[in-house]
Amino acid sequence: MNHASSAVRAGFKLTPTTPAIGALIEGVDAGTLSDTQFAQVHAALMTHHVIFLRGQRLSQAQLVAFARRFGEPQPASESSFGKLEGFPEIDVLDYDATRPPYVTKEMWHTDFSGRAEPTMGSVLYALQVPSSGGDTIWVSLAAAYEALSARMKQYLAGLRAQHETVKAFGDDIRSHLWKDQAGRQRFERIKAQPPAEHPVICTHPVSGKKLLYVNEGYTTRLLGVERKEGEAVLNYLFEHLRTPEFQVRHRWREGDVVVWDNRITQHYALADYGERRVMHRITIRGVRPQ
Ligand SMILES: [Fe+2]
Repeated sequence: MNHASSAVRAGFKLTPTTPAIGALIEGVDAGTLSDTQFAQVHAALMTHHVIFLRGQRLSQAQLVAFARRFGEPQPASESSFGKLEGFPEIDVLDYDATRPPYVTKEMWHTDFSGRAEPTMGSVLYALQVPSSGGDTIWVSLAAAYEALSARMKQYLAGLRAQHETVKAFGDDIRSHLWKDQAGRQRFERIKAQPPAEHPVICTHPVSGKKLLYVNEGYTTRLLGVERKEGEAVLNYLFEHLRTPEFQVRHRWREGDVVVWDNRITQHYALADYGERRVMHRITIRGVRPQ
């Protein structure tokens, strides 16, 4: 079935952003989606990995209700972001020149891949955006897998990799998070977390697409191969994953609601802005990648 035409039947317009990843959805109110509309929005997410809904006006309760249609929200207490009283599902991402999101630079990452069960996806709602900058880039891990050579696919088949949260949250990346007592305790907990092990090639549980599941932010080593060899292969894969043809870059507007499938993407949030940028985020619980 053609998603664009079924989207029209569900009463909205769907426009793929790039052939590999991303779709713009126009003409829906995320706060009042019918079940038919939601089924088409969900289908669009499965096909395009990240969907962009413009011009939304959602209360916090409506944002939570919308996110809940995709799955069970993960409590915001499990992240390092700001919290919101009364809405334990919502992370507050609030940054400007005096409170930058990280010390040096962001790394490409799949959220929570340092855990045995990384999140299924996220819903991000833009409340305030800088006049320029603060874009987010997503990468299709299916497109990245497809573009590997047959030899490389064969080499990676059956391999597993280690993912460690401390790599993404080390002192050099986010030391500003660890300044106060609560922050230092959180950092100690992160350092004590055992590494997660995930297959390098995973299969998406809904679409059945094969995907390349390593990321610069969390993946620390390939298991079962000599360490230097593993480092060289991982560095090649991180470089491969930066290929522009696998990417979509989103220029945020206030009122944007973006949903991404964290099982088949990685992303990079640009820290190139000084004006305030405020987002509310809800992450959805996931299962062990297979
Ligand atoms: Fe992220």
